[in-house]
Amino acid sequence: KRLILIGPPGSGKGTQSPIIKDEYCLCHLATGDMLRAAVTAKTPLGIKAKEAMDKGELVSDDLVVGIIDEAMKKPSCQKGFILDGFPRTKVQAEKLDEMLQKQGTKIDKVLNFAIDDAILEERITGRWIHPSSGRTYNTKFAPPKVPGADDVSGEPLIQRKDDTAEVLKSRLEAFHRQTEPVIDYYSKKGVVADLHAEKPPEEVTTEVQKVLSS
Ligand code: AP5
Ligand code: ZN
Repeated sequence: KRLILIGPPGSGKGTQSPIIKDEYCLCHLATGDMLRAAVTAKTPLGIKAKEAMDKGELVSDDLVVGIIDEAMKKPSCQKGFILDGFPRTKVQAEKLDEMLQKQGTKIDKVLNFAIDDAILEERITGRWIHPSSGRTYNTKFAPPKVPGADDVSGEPLIQRKDDTAEVLKSRLEAFHRQTEPVIDYYSKKGVVADLHAEKPPEEVTTEVQKVLSS
């Protein structure tokens, strides 16, 4: 399966991805995760991306299209993939279509994590991440199992630099202005499935499973 997960910050894309990935043996390509790794490693890509990311703005289409083009060549992505956080602009969607056309494939489903903006601040400011595994916790909604806010491995959790109420405002603005048109773009192709992303994680998983088995 070739899937796109689209939705505002905190809508649950990164929470559902590992579950879908394991169930359908897909590769998980999250442009945000790849960019954060590049920022931490201070690679040329990371240096270019950091400023926009810290402000909650999108990085340039060329940068992210380049990373996805490269990542999709991995053998593990040939059977299918989950794109988490890409495409986020119409230009990115068009470029992706071109890439897939060359391979003679196309997107099967776009999972739209539909949710009201008002719920997102609590989710974003309460998020804690285990960097090496990507496991995601939330002080309120998904507290870490180990006392003292550590991961199951016992390793410490971190917070993302852009997970503040202030930066969230810019991220949401970018979503509504630049990314919502991408949902329309795929709606016209008839591949969008709307999810009730405000529900508890397990219920969202059930909705995803229903969509993917139909
Ligand atoms: P990116 O990393 O993609 O961030 P985002 O889109 O803002 O999405 P998040 O990761 O914040 O949300 P999520 O939906 O994954 O939420 P999660 O499941 O973790 O992008 C970061 C930046 O990189 C961008 O701002 C941009 O600068 C750049 N970038 C990335 N891709 C780009 C592109 N294609 N083009 C240009 N620039 C790009 O959940 C959040 C919290 O809520 C967690 O604590 C979780 O435990 C909790 N939670 C999850 N589901 C539920 C639920 N159902 N109920 C209750 N709590 C829940
Ligand atoms: Zn995410």
